[in-house]
Amino acid sequence: MPGKRIAVIGAGVSGLSAIKSCLEEGLEPTCFEGSSDIGGLWRYEEKPEGGRPSIYKSATSNTSKEMTAYSDYPFPDHHPNYLHNSKIMEYLRMYTKHFHLMKYIQFLSKVCSVRKRSDFSSTGQWDVVVEAEGKQESYVFDGILVCTGLYTDPFLPFENFPGIKRFKGQYIHSLEYKRPDKFQEKRIIVIGIGNSGVDLAVELSHVAEQVFLSTRRGAWIWNRVWDYGMPTDTILFTRFNSILKKFYPTSLMNRWAENKLNARFNHDIYGLQPQHRFLSHQATFSDDLPNHIISGRVLMKPNVREFTETSVIFEDGTKENIDVIIFATGYTFSFPFLENNSTILDSHHSMFKFVFPPQLEKATLAFIGILQPVGATIPTSELQSRWAVRVFKGLNQLPSVSDMVADITKKRKKNEKEFLNNPRDTRRVQYVDYMDEIASEIGVKPNLFSLFLWDPKLAMEVFFGPCTPYQYRLQGPGKWAQAREAILTQRERIIKPLRTRILSSGQHPSSAPLWLKSICAALLLFILTIIIIKG
Ligand SMILES: Cc1cc2nc3c(=O)[nH]c(=O)nc-3n(C[C@H](O)[C@H](O)[C@H](O)COP(=O)(O)OP(=O)(O)OC[C@H]3O[C@@H](n4cnc5c(N)ncnc54)[C@H](O)[C@@H]3O)c2cc1C
Ligand SMILES: *[C@@H]1O[C@H](CO)[C@@H](O)[C@H](O)[C@H]1NC(C)=O
Ligand SMILES: *[C@@H]1O[C@H](CO)[C@@H](O)[C@H](O)[C@H]1NC(C)=O
Ligand SMILES: *[C@@H]1O[C@H](CO)[C@@H](O)[C@H](O)[C@H]1NC(C)=O
Repeated sequence: MPGKRIAVIGAGVSGLSAIKSCLEEGLEPTCFEGSSDIGGLWRYEEKPEGGRPSIYKSATSNTSKEMTAYSDYPFPDHHPNYLHNSKIMEYLRMYTKHFHLMKYIQFLSKVCSVRKRSDFSSTGQWDVVVEAEGKQESYVFDGILVCTGLYTDPFLPFENFPGIKRFKGQYIHSLEYKRPDKFQEKRIIVIGIGNSGVDLAVELSHVAEQVFLSTRRGAWIWNRVWDYGMPTDTILFTRFNSILKKFYPTSLMNRWAENKLNARFNHDIYGLQPQHRFLSHQATFSDDLPNHIISGRVLMKPNVREFTETSVIFEDGTKENIDVIIFATGYTFSFPFLENNSTILDSHHSMFKFVFPPQLEKATLAFIGILQPVGATIPTSELQSRWAVRVFKGLNQLPSVSDMVADITKKRKKNEKEFLNNPRDTRRVQYVDYMDEIASEIGVKPNLFSLFLWDPKLAMEVFFGPCTPYQYRLQGPGKWAQAREAILTQRERIIKPLRTRILSSGQHPSSAPLWLKSICAALLLFILTIIIIKG
């Protein structure tokens, strides 16, 4: 039988690895991209276009390059650890070229509808209608990978902001913000303390007369630069930590993290202290916010009570004149091309492991990248695609509908308990746990025990080092011969872009002696054995 024909919808970071995963498994992908180029969210354009995500000129990743890479394609060693959007685009173009993905993408082709064919229950096939150059065309596909992203529809809860219609100044959603030039000497209020809200408040405060940052519940503020100047995610997202987390009581973890962040600046005095504990809500990344608060350029404010024609009144009764409101209130998402009735998705957008709608008679449609990992998106959606194409091919089976629904319900309950009961938080997953869960489905989760026996040097780095995506190419289907080397050289790639002024070799700290390392390794093997016996 010739390869199955698969439609990939969207050519952002998720769509690109979806195409590649199809090719790896001998399927025939056709990718439809509504805009004229690859990159999705990461492709900066001066003007926001409807139906496409949009970022600001200065947007820089909050996940570091070694953690953000595709699993068989590390970022070039000279790229900085945190990446400006132009650098991510450069990387995506290299990836696309290296794996010859361009010829599978049809640009300026918007998918308008995806419907089951009448014989769906036996063939699992789909009718796909695509609009290009004003004309609609129909196609038949054996499988669909939906890679349309989470950040296209702005969430604007105007009902929470009485008087907004009266306001005479300018108001925009953060998605429309591009650069600070137009906001010179303005009095600006930014609403919302997520990553975008804080980034915009900080950037605008360089040029504005005054910036107010309004938040209902506050936030814990992390930095991108962790102890000794290492990228935060490379230090925190390790297998060692993820095991610690399972054994440690949550309250102790919270205390550790909160003390650590408060040691940098007191969240209470700085007006940021949330009511929630550290682990129960998304933390915000900003190395700069405290600097701008202490210099008075950003003033923290409580929730907005109402707007008047020229001012804002906060819940504490204080009033400030303002010229501009920026709503950094987040996003909602939808799939307007799916048929309107609920034969594919329920109202919660329930998906088995955030990939497969559970109720379909045939598992021939998968959602890729429709989740919020506490960690990088690129490797997560790549692994989802590797799993999805194997299910399409029949190499992996899904459990029964009732088991899938039970799993979804269980996870939703767990998330509601762990995170504040925020409907927009229900798709949050812990990076290492989620990656391992999907990897186990495919059989590409690294086997630590045998690694410790046969390759202790690699095992040490896999266990204690950052849980980089290359770990999921060490074994099983899609194994990549250079994965071992990529892991053993990752620290060099972290250090390399920082060493632009090379000091004489005498100043390097010497590394731990071999005997110390050997004792550590022996100790570790012992701990691991206990863990494996216990678990
Ligand atoms: C401000 C901001 C900062 C972020 N920072 C990070 C970060 O540092 N690290 C990280 O890992 N993640 C980050 N994220 C998450 C980010 O969403 C992912 O990194 C990534 O962009 C998701 O890619 P995607 O391909 O899933 O979706 P998108 O990038 O949204 O791409 C979807 C593509 O689908 C196309 N499309 C949509 N509908 C259709 C249709 N009907 N027909 C045809 N084409 C269609 C769109 O044109 C678009 O090109 C950030 C998000 C935001 C908003
Ligand atoms: C869903 O319904 C709306 C109107 O109710 C319509 O505009 C849209 O085209 C429909 N979508 C599909 C895929 O049929
Ligand atoms: C739901 O789908 C069925 C066929 O699949 C169609 O007959 C019906 O009109 C649809 N209902 C709505 C509300 O779209
Ligand atoms: C990075 O920023 C995006 C956009 O605000 C957010 O969705 C994501 O969770 C952040 N990443 C981490 C690791 O916090």
